[in-house]
Amino acid sequence: MPAQSVFDFASLQQTWAMPSAPRPITILGAGGIVRDGHLPAYRRMGLPVAGVFDVNAEAARKLAADFDIPVVHQTLDDTLAACGTRGVFDLALPPAAILQTVEQLPEGSIALIQKPLGPDGAAARQIVDTLQARSVTAATNFQLRFTPSMLAIRDAVRRGLLGDIVDVEVRLAVYMPWELWSFIPSLDAVEIPLHSIHYLDWIRSLLGEPESVFAKAVKHPRYPTLADARSSIILDYGDRVRCALSLNHTYNYGPKHVEATIRVEGTKGAAHLSVGYLIDYNKPVPEKLEFVTEGGTWTELPLKGERVPDAFGFVMANLQRFAAGEDAVLDTDVRDSVRTMALVDAALKSSRLGGVVPE
Ligand SMILES: NC(=O)c1ccc[n+]([C@@H]2O[C@H](COP(=O)([O-])OP(=O)(O)OC[C@H]3O[C@@H](n4cnc5c(N)ncnc54)[C@H](O)[C@@H]3O)[C@@H](O)[C@H]2O)c1
Repeated sequence: MPAQSVFDFASLQQTWAMPSAPRPITILGAGGIVRDGHLPAYRRMGLPVAGVFDVNAEAARKLAADFDIPVVHQTLDDTLAACGTRGVFDLALPPAAILQTVEQLPEGSIALIQKPLGPDGAAARQIVDTLQARSVTAATNFQLRFTPSMLAIRDAVRRGLLGDIVDVEVRLAVYMPWELWSFIPSLDAVEIPLHSIHYLDWIRSLLGEPESVFAKAVKHPRYPTLADARSSIILDYGDRVRCALSLNHTYNYGPKHVEATIRVEGTKGAAHLSVGYLIDYNKPVPEKLEFVTEGGTWTELPLKGERVPDAFGFVMANLQRFAAGEDAVLDTDVRDSVRTMALVDAALKSSRLGGVVPE
């Protein structure tokens, strides 16, 4: 029998401290992700929500009724005045609506902005320039980084428990119900800017900037109106790391052989995550995280929470704690997110250009 693993993995970070004086949150955009992710997290973590605004007043009213939000704002001006610099703006808008909204945020205010940061990298730079000109402290809602399992993996890597990271792989063969999102058929690209963007952002936070990217996004006959529905991506870290993402969202022969795993392999150990919430999008099961270190055996680390809703509370907590001077680093600072947006653009460009043609 190999020796048991000696490191107490239970001591790895899985949660984020809450701000000691939570600021009232004002929601802009009362859509699906606020209902399913943001508000359940704020409720669980005791983060107060002061008001909501949506251009669709009925959507705002219904959300407020369902989550006991005290104020439904009638206009954007009212919303901006009520939140001011004391509260936090929580933008969950379609990407094309972000710039026009941040142009009006009060000087010196605080904002969390749902990904993607605009329709493309150029728009992201414009959004960030606007935020900087208005001295807005702003983070992107790249909440995958804050999922308890991902916090644990990053902590293990930072503490050197896995040695030098040599291999990172994201492997999906799942059924993603793309038909749920009515706006998707109008997009020029789907899988990478909407889904894989989270992995690209998380991998940057783990390994740093890749030298380049190879990618191919392809359609599926079941979704003839979608620009694409699945992709393959290689991030080029030179000879240091092999980093590959195999993203099949149209696998239709499950549950047998459904796969949703993330593996991080180092010279001294490895982490393996079964991404439960992707195995069946409509019936999520818990994630399962296992670690192994040299001379030990694979050990499961009981998780203290899930991506939905916990990670949505932690990303907000980091922003509020940073604004209060309680966190030194704003992990998903919009200025960092611009690099993720640039990586998405580069992946889409690679997909359009294609590979090397055999002679
Ligand atoms: N895990 C994640 O991070 C995650 C998951 C899903 C969606 N998202 C992102 O969140 C954003 C919202 O997604 P959703 O699924 O909630 O979309 P949705 O279509 O359900 O909701 C968007 C809402 O914004 C409102 N809106 C549009 N323009 C507005 C404006 N100018 N001012 C105020 N309200 C406006 C719409 O009326 C709608 O109610 C998108 O950018 C999406 O990419 C992120």
